[in-house]
This record gives sequence, structure tokens and C-alpha cells, in this order.
Amino acid sequence: MARLCFTLVILALALLVSQSESLTCTSQRFTNKNVYTNCTDLSYLNAYLHWTYNTSNSTLSIAFTAPPSKPEGWVSWSINPVKLSMISAQAILAFKHKDNITINTYNVTSYDDPTKWGTQLSYEVWDLSAEEYNGNITIFGKWKLPEKTKMVNQIWQVGPGITDKGLPLPHDKSLNNFNAKGTLQLLGTQSGASPTPSPPAAPPSPAGLVPGAPAPAPAGKKKSASTRIGGRISVGFYMGLVVILWSFIVF
Ligand SMILES: *[C@@H]1O[C@H](CO)[C@@H](O)[C@H](O)[C@H]1NC(C)=O
Ligand SMILES: *[C@@H]1O[C@H](CO)[C@@H](O)[C@H](O)[C@H]1NC(C)=O
Ligand SMILES: *[C@@H]1O[C@H](CO)[C@@H](O)[C@H](O)[C@H]1NC(C)=O
Ligand SMILES: *[C@@H]1O[C@H](CO)[C@@H](O)[C@H](O)[C@H]1NC(C)=O
Ligand SMILES: *[C@@H]1O[C@H](CO)[C@@H](O)[C@H](O)[C@H]1NC(C)=O
Ligand SMILES: *[C@@H]1O[C@H](CO)[C@@H](O)[C@H](O)[C@H]1NC(C)=O
Repeated sequence: MARLCFTLVILALALLVSQSESLTCTSQRFTNKNVYTNCTDLSYLNAYLHWTYNTSNSTLSIAFTAPPSKPEGWVSWSINPVKLSMISAQAILAFKHKDNITINTYNVTSYDDPTKWGTQLSYEVWDLSAEEYNGNITIFGKWKLPEKTKMVNQIWQVGPGITDKGLPLPHDKSLNNFNAKGTLQLLGTQSGASPTPSPPAAPPSPAGLVPGAPAPAPAGKKKSASTRIGGRISVGFYMGLVVILWSFIVF
């Protein structure tokens, strides 16, 4: 009996540890007083998206946070009205240079030539600002979406630096960079931050073990927003298992 109690306590502790690690989204802090109703842990590039969607005027307010891949690098968050791709992304990009934060908008039209990208977006965006804190850059902004929008394609990215002309240098070509995209469900149930991750990127998560996780997504759709949490829960779970086995051996 004592052994069972001990085991349960240890297991609960292991789960607690893994859960508190997954609270990164809610523990984000800003120096200004923006408040957002929703937060999504993006599955790649250590990025987070706080957002509020006001359906009565179809305005999406966002605070996107990520660390640039190098200190003088850039971060960007975009909506792609066409597809889950860098091409046609309507991007807000920010970088810090000598204590100055710069924000630019880009209509991304090619993979490699920012000199040809337009700076006019197909969405109205306003209240743009950015701040740097603790090596992370946060972009704030508001987007006017078409009426009745329920979901958008989001693409996020981080890069190592900017050119002399202030244009972004290309991002790394790692899987994490290529996977940094997904649908953002504004209304209804979140069905995934990255519906099509490449196979090696995310370990399978024991979905049944994730407390408070959204209902299982339809077959074929991956729930990467919760995969991140699932991964941590499973670490805690396996730690718990190891401890259980150990306690059976010792007692
Ligand atoms: C966003 O937050 C609101 C208020 O907490 C909640 O009712 C809604 O379900 C959330 N939306 C999504 C897609 O998670
Ligand atoms: C949504 O926008 C409408 C129109 O601007 C405003 O009246 C309402 O208070 C907003 N709702 C929230 C929750 O901010
Ligand atoms: C919609 O309402 C929100 C919240 O009241 C406000 O911040 C935003 O500017 C409004 N959008 C438009 C297009 O007026
Ligand atoms: C910072 O930006 C301001 C306004 O854009 C500019 O006047 C100033 O020279 C910049 N400072 C540095 C150190 O780049
Ligand atoms: C963005 O670029 C595409 C391709 O050049 C162009 O067709 C589109 O009109 C541009 N969008 C805006 C808002 O300028
Ligand atoms: C960015 O923010 C996260 C979460 O708040 C923090 O763990 C991390 O140390 C920060 N800095 C960098 C460079 O990632």
C-alpha cells in the first residue's frame, strides 16, 4: 500500500513537472499592457502567438514572439491568403539594430530576392510595433480580415541578419524553418498549428495522456500545437514509469 502511494505521488510529481514546463505560452510577458484572449505555442523555432480575434469587425490582434536565429537577426509572422507557403505570404518582419527596432511589411513573391518583394500587403494592418526582451522579439499588430474569416494560414520565420540595405538575409534551411507554418483556427476548435510536419520533426505523442488537449483531430490532420505539449507530457510519463519500476525493485 505504501509502495502504491509512493508511486502515485512520484507519478503525479512527474506529470506536474512536465505540465509546468508546457506553460510557456501563458508565462509570456510584455512590457506594454496588451491583453490577448488566446495563445498558441507554435511548434517550431520557439515561437508563440498571442492573439485576439474580434468577429464583429473581423480584426485579428496579434503578438508574435520568437528569438532571431542570431542576435542581430529578424523575426516575421505572416498570413498567406493563398496557401501554406512562403510565396504570397503577407509578412510583418522586425529586427533590432543598434537599439532601434525596425518593422517592415512584405508581399513575399520569391524565395530568394527581397529586393523584388512588394511592401504593400493585401490586408490592412495597423498599430504595428515591436519590442525586444531577453533575446526575443515580439511583433504587435492588427489585421483586418475578410468578413466571416474562421481560419488563416500562418507562416512564421526567423533569420540571422539584415543586409546593408535593411533587407532580410535568408533564413536557415533546416526542417524547423521549413515546418514553421500551419493553420490558425480563429473560431471553433484549434485543429493544428502545423498540419503537415515532415516525419522526423515531431515524435508521436500519446494523445490520450494530454490533459485538456483539444478533441482528436480528424484522421490525417496532425495537431502540432499540442504535439509540443504532448512531447513534454510523455517525457514526464516515461520518467514516472521509470520511477515506478525503480520503486518496485527497491521496496
Ligand atoms: C479563444 O479564447 C476564447 C476565450 O477564452 C475561447 O472561448 C475560444 O475557444 C478560444 N479559441 C480558440 C480557437 O482556441
Ligand atoms: C469588437 O469590435 C467592436 C467594434 O469595434 C467593439 O464594439 C467591441 O467592443 C469589440 N469587442 C471586444 C471584445 O473588444
Ligand atoms: C475592431 O475592434 C477592436 C477592438 O475594439 C479594435 O481594436 C479594432 O481597431 C477594430 N477594428 C477596426 C477595423 O476598426
Ligand atoms: C534609430 O531610428 C531613428 C528613426 O528611424 C533614426 O533617426 C536613428 O538614427 C536610428 N538610430 C540608430 C542608432 O540607428
Ligand atoms: C503581391 O505580389 C503579387 C505578385 O507580384 C501581386 O500580384 C499582388 O498584387 C501584390 N499584392 C499587393 C497587395 O500589392
Ligand atoms: C525567449 O523567451 C523564452 C521564453 O520566455 C526564454 O526561455 C528564452 O530564454 C528567451 N530568449 C531566447 C534567446 O530564446
